[in-house]
Amino acid sequence: MRAVDALIRDRLRSDVTLINEIAAHILRSGGKRLRPVLVLLAARAFGRCDQRGHLVAAIVELIHTATLLHDDVVDETERRRGQATANAAFGNAGAVLSGDFLYSRSFQLMVEVDDMRIMRELADTTNAIAEGEVLQLMRCGDPDADEAGYLEVIERKTARLFRAATGLGALIAGADADGIRAAQDYGLSLGMAFQVVDDLLDYLADPEVSGKNLGTDLAEGKPTLPLIRAMSVGDAATRDYLRGAISDGGSADVAAVLRAVESTDAIHYTSAAAQRHAADAKQALAAMPPSAFRDAMSGLADFTVKRAS
Ligand code: IPE
Ligand code: IPE
Ligand code: MG
Ligand code: MG
Repeated sequence: MRAVDALIRDRLRSDVTLINEIAAHILRSGGKRLRPVLVLLAARAFGRCDQRGHLVAAIVELIHTATLLHDDVVDETERRRGQATANAAFGNAGAVLSGDFLYSRSFQLMVEVDDMRIMRELADTTNAIAEGEVLQLMRCGDPDADEAGYLEVIERKTARLFRAATGLGALIAGADADGIRAAQDYGLSLGMAFQVVDDLLDYLADPEVSGKNLGTDLAEGKPTLPLIRAMSVGDAATRDYLRGAISDGGSADVAAVLRAVESTDAIHYTSAAAQRHAADAKQALAAMPPSAFRDAMSGLADFTVKRAS
């Protein structure tokens, strides 16, 4: 990971100063670096992780960071990783254009890897993320959003990049088709669990620990699983209140919405859904050879559902 971090820092340089400032702002603030870790762990679980593995890990983190820059503009978010978002600190235009820089720099690194299979997977994945974000936008403010539609969104916007990370790690290490599929299945399920928990944390987290503000999904009228569930099982008054909160997104009081959600089983239901996806991820690991790296991947599935940040 030290080598990957050095690579990211090295490859982010530009002679355009604002790009350097924004890139430094978002990268200095850290983040969990979960996706590059997944590339390295999956590669080591199947054998060696060479310089190509480091490059792919860096690419995956750059793509992730680009999506965050754009996502925070779209979500009008002000805090991430315990500091001001790039849009809050530098304005929307700077954040969007720097996101473009990170995407296009990741294309340059893909060319450096020079493997059409890797290029195809990353191209498809990046495209799926964009589709997921637009699909989600189309569903903002829609009180009739259902769980199936929600799962479709989070698979594209989040889980697909996790799947690419683990699948490409396995591919780089020379895993056979079954091995790659197992790694992909693990990544996809882990990513689903990860986003379900993120959506729960948007209502429940301690902002000091998560580094993000509470209630941003609600403020956008984004119908995530806690609300979708509460709207489907709550009593008539709860349902009406929450439908209103979603359709005139932005104005409802987070604490009141949380109380309405908590009058149903929605928190428990959402957390159980995350646990199921994490269990699926661990199940997929059974098809991979036992190793300390596979154990760490199993530990990451546990971390994903227990995390507070
Ligand atoms: C945030 O991802 C975006 C989601 C997919 C929920 P992370 O929680 O991995 O963000 P960082 O990189 O650790 O800040
Ligand atoms: C994840 O969704 C966004 C991307 C995959 C880009 P969120 O909008 O919930 O992520 P956060 O909460 O802002 O990190
Ligand atoms: Mg967001
Ligand atoms: Mg979120």
